[in-house]
Amino acid sequence: MKLKRLFVLAASAVLSAAAFFGCSSDNSSASADAPAAAEAAKVKPLVVYWTWSETHNTKVVAEMLKAKTGADIALIEMVTPYPTDFGSVMQLGQRDLQQPKAPAIKEMNLDLSKYDPIYVGTPIWFSTFAPPVRTFLQSYDLKGKTVALFCTHGQGNPATFKYLADAKAAVPAINYFPEVFAYKGTEAANAGSALDAWIQKVSAK
Ligand SMILES: Cc1cc2nc3c(=O)[nH]c(=O)nc-3n(C[C@H](O)[C@H](O)[C@H](O)COP(=O)(O)O)c2cc1C
Repeated sequence: MKLKRLFVLAASAVLSAAAFFGCSSDNSSASADAPAAAEAAKVKPLVVYWTWSETHNTKVVAEMLKAKTGADIALIEMVTPYPTDFGSVMQLGQRDLQQPKAPAIKEMNLDLSKYDPIYVGTPIWFSTFAPPVRTFLQSYDLKGKTVALFCTHGQGNPATFKYLADAKAAVPAINYFPEVFAYKGTEAANAGSALDAWIQKVSAK
């Protein structure tokens, strides 16, 4: 009789231990999933850019931004890309800037609810954005986000660029970060420390 009770006690101890460990292992997988879910739900930065020249200076800065901020990155692509020769692109670029919304860009399948801030980069063309970048700003609902503009340029003086003013004119409802990051295209690889200082200001907003 005593032996039988001992056996019952031992068996129930084993069962409750199994139940405990089973349960605790379920809990641990639930709590391991929680940070992953929280991480997935967290908004992160997005870098969107367009580039044309064969050295892709704006892409150099865009990739740096991605590396420094942990952003996702997306390239704006034209439905009909500009030709690669400078003469044609001078003509077509000017022509498109005179249209209210041109040229067409490809669908980018962006879930913008996942992103904030959004960095938008362009090569400076005729002292302002290249036309496909304006199409991007006009095509996606960026309201409620901080949109921080960056650009690469040639010999022009950044103080005279109209990128921010023209972006505001094209899509006034966007909350633009007031300082545009501008860097000389031929020196884009050296943009790192200037970029760090600007990212800090954007992040502090
Ligand atoms: C059609 C065209 C117009 C340009 N206009 C300007 C300009 O007004 N001011 C300037 O500083 N650079 C100007 N540039 C130079 C580009 O902004 C510069 O080379 C930029 O870094 C190129 O970037 P990407 O390699 O990403 O295309 C122009 C370039 C092109 C092709």
